[in-house]
Amino acid sequence: MTDHQTWKFETQQIHAGQVPDPATGARALPIHQTTSFVFESTDQAANRFALAEGGNIYTRITNPTQAVAEERIAALEGGTAALLLASGQAAATYAILNIAGAGDHIVSSASIYGGTYNLFKYTLAKIGIEVTFVSDQDDLSEWQRAVRPNTKAFFAESIANPRVNILDITGVSEVAHENGVPLIIDNTVASPYLIRPIEYGADIVLHSATKFLGGHGTTLGGVIVDGGRFPWSEHVDRFPGLTEPDPSYNGVSYTGVLGDGIAYVMKARVQLLRDIGAAVAPNSAWLLLQGIETLSLRMERHVQNAQEVAEWLDAHDDVATVYYAGLPSSPWYAAANRYAPKGVGAVLSFELKGGVNAGKALVEGVELFSHVANIGDVRSLIIHPASTTHSQLTPEQQLVAGVTPGLVRLSVGIENISDITADLERGFAAAREVVARARAEA
Ligand SMILES: Cc1ncc(COP(=O)(O)O)c(C=O)c1O
Repeated sequence: MTDHQTWKFETQQIHAGQVPDPATGARALPIHQTTSFVFESTDQAANRFALAEGGNIYTRITNPTQAVAEERIAALEGGTAALLLASGQAAATYAILNIAGAGDHIVSSASIYGGTYNLFKYTLAKIGIEVTFVSDQDDLSEWQRAVRPNTKAFFAESIANPRVNILDITGVSEVAHENGVPLIIDNTVASPYLIRPIEYGADIVLHSATKFLGGHGTTLGGVIVDGGRFPWSEHVDRFPGLTEPDPSYNGVSYTGVLGDGIAYVMKARVQLLRDIGAAVAPNSAWLLLQGIETLSLRMERHVQNAQEVAEWLDAHDDVATVYYAGLPSSPWYAAANRYAPKGVGAVLSFELKGGVNAGKALVEGVELFSHVANIGDVRSLIIHPASTTHSQLTPEQQLVAGVTPGLVRLSVGIENISDITADLERGFAAAREVVARARAEA
């Protein structure tokens, strides 16, 4: 097969990891909707179990449809290999559990998706992993101060949801590496078309594939991509799970057998996925791939529309503040130009001058925008984060994550821009009515 590493992004998103089906000649990828695979002999079965020979065993661990999605996403991110899972939350959970256990510590930005915050703050704490949250992710000294002898990883989002802060990936990765730990980046909002974190020093990249990778809003999925550059075997005391023999897998040392380049992602597959089982359905892997084939085209339109919406909102009389790093007024404008020159994604948020009630009226007043708890759909989406996606955080935690009471979040779709702004104007009219009524009653 052609070396997909030499292909450009637009070609990789269609072809990486796939050839016409050798059994049938099918050009499009078949959905291998099967739980298990027939072994040709007992020797072959034994070799596959011992990792001495490649090949499928059981769909909880590997599946040919899933494998194409993994190879394609790894190519798009510039990683060595990937693991596709049932959801973005599964990807974040596995990314941490793969290198941390009871008694260990993680340093994370506080500017992260509310679900990841809950996972880190409460669920990881229950199994003895403590997470320190960095409240200002731009302050590299705060990352350094949070490090302890038992720290195992740094975690952040390349473009944070919902305030659109752009991470200084290189700066944070340098602090991580000086302390002998990897930087894990959630690249969901950017997608590899806008930012490829591994090129800037990240070691592991994950996604909620549910969002822009799929793009159609039909399918849950998550993925972990191994950057292949972290020198695990130089840190045997810190990462014995990767370097020492694993008694649960015939005493294999993952770095010993597989090398530093893919040890991390393979361990996640053969150990965590085997034991915990958040496997993606072959049908879901296939649906996600249908979206990935058009990723660059969708992202181009997403960022074009989002930039126009951000500028339009910025000039709107009813809007107090717009959070979008594509605006020169954003504190992350310079970082955006450096890390995301093609655009800063389709998620943006804003405050109405009329406050919380005006914000809620706008969310209820729009018609084209769908009021849903998702981002990254081809359709335009709207939500009030404080009462929904971030509602399980305390008001203080919400503020640290950038969620103020009146904030409205948009995920701008790829519809015609004039229909998008006309619909928002409809929402503003509804918001003005609510404000006027409240004034009249006061
Ligand atoms: C940035 C980010 N990461 C992770 C997730 C979790 O992904 P999933 O819903 O696929 O579990 C989300 C979901 O909204 C998200 O926005």
